[in-house]
Amino acid sequence: MRRAKLSVIGAGNVGATCAHWAAAKELADIVLLDIPDRVGVAKGKALDLFCCAPMEEFDANVIGTSDYKDTADSDVVIVTAGLPRKPGMSRDDLIQTNVKIVREVAENVAKHSPNAVMIIVSNPLDAMVYTAWKASGFPTNKILGQAGCLDVARFRAFLAMELGCSVEDIQALLLGGHGDDMVPLPRFTSVHGIPIDMLLSKEKIDACVQRAKVGGGEIVQLMGTSAYYAPASGSVQMAEAIIKDKKRILPCAAYCEKEFGVATEKGKGYFVGVPCVLGKNGMEKIVEINLNADEKKLMDESISHVKDLVGTVRKIFPELA
Ligand code: NAI
Ligand code: 2OP
Repeated sequence: MRRAKLSVIGAGNVGATCAHWAAAKELADIVLLDIPDRVGVAKGKALDLFCCAPMEEFDANVIGTSDYKDTADSDVVIVTAGLPRKPGMSRDDLIQTNVKIVREVAENVAKHSPNAVMIIVSNPLDAMVYTAWKASGFPTNKILGQAGCLDVARFRAFLAMELGCSVEDIQALLLGGHGDDMVPLPRFTSVHGIPIDMLLSKEKIDACVQRAKVGGGEIVQLMGTSAYYAPASGSVQMAEAIIKDKKRILPCAAYCEKEFGVATEKGKGYFVGVPCVLGKNGMEKIVEINLNADEKKLMDESISHVKDLVGTVRKIFPELA
């Protein structure tokens, strides 16, 4: 039986950690690609990781390269290429540099792995997914952005810390773009089926919502660069759902036209964080839910921010409009 093939573009902190989680899960043969100047880093990290196989007991090849030919016919490609933010920067500050990188990467992925599902991680996420969609020409079900898996995991982690219970028992939903205006939804959050507001005061829930929203920034302040363990874990959670055709419902940046009030013309949609069914065809379905007036207002604000970011991409590359 052919093992699945996963390529990770960008062998930096997030990319290498994606390779790590994927290898540990024995998910696929892994190709770690970086630019020619950094091919030694890609090859070295791949070799170091493969040397874990006898101890961690996974059968998966891991190679490093700067040649897209080695990525040919990947089932899933995770794109982490691009600058991360530094203290004081927002994700949006990265747009000028990263749009060029992601455009070039997406064109190469489309050329060498035309049937892959592409998961974009580079920031600013919602604009980079749009860029990759336009540059690759991929159908909308084959392009996704990773943000919601991470952001909702942070929300669940902070709630578990507050409650002193296992994170496994916390279910939560989070929508919107990958900015500080993301939309965690306490009304759809429970602890083993018990609504969260039966266990925590409004003030404590609001504090967890707020910490989730700025959780990325909290880590940038601590480390001087952006997070990578949890972002990579979220990316591999999505890759696993696709490779194993699990039909998991996960929050992802997915193509919306009318869903969740995005309201654009046909073919002119945006990628926004929404709950999706993920399987072998990539994004197989968006799960729509009714939001109340307060939730809808927050979602509208977040979508408006996504539209502004995409407007900046269109200004930089009018041909991607
Ligand atoms: P990093 O600097 O450690 O790694 C980025 C890698 O991309 C470098 O090795 C660099 O050489 C490579 N690269 C640059 N241009 C390239 C190209 N044209 N082709 C192939 N590789 C190229 O950065 P890190 O921490 O891994 O972050 C990567 C990106 O992911 C950043 O944009 C960051 O903001 C974003 N990010 C997104 C998250 C999310 O949840 N969506 C969470 C964390 C980071
Ligand atoms: C994060 O949320 C910076 O997007 C990155 O950690």
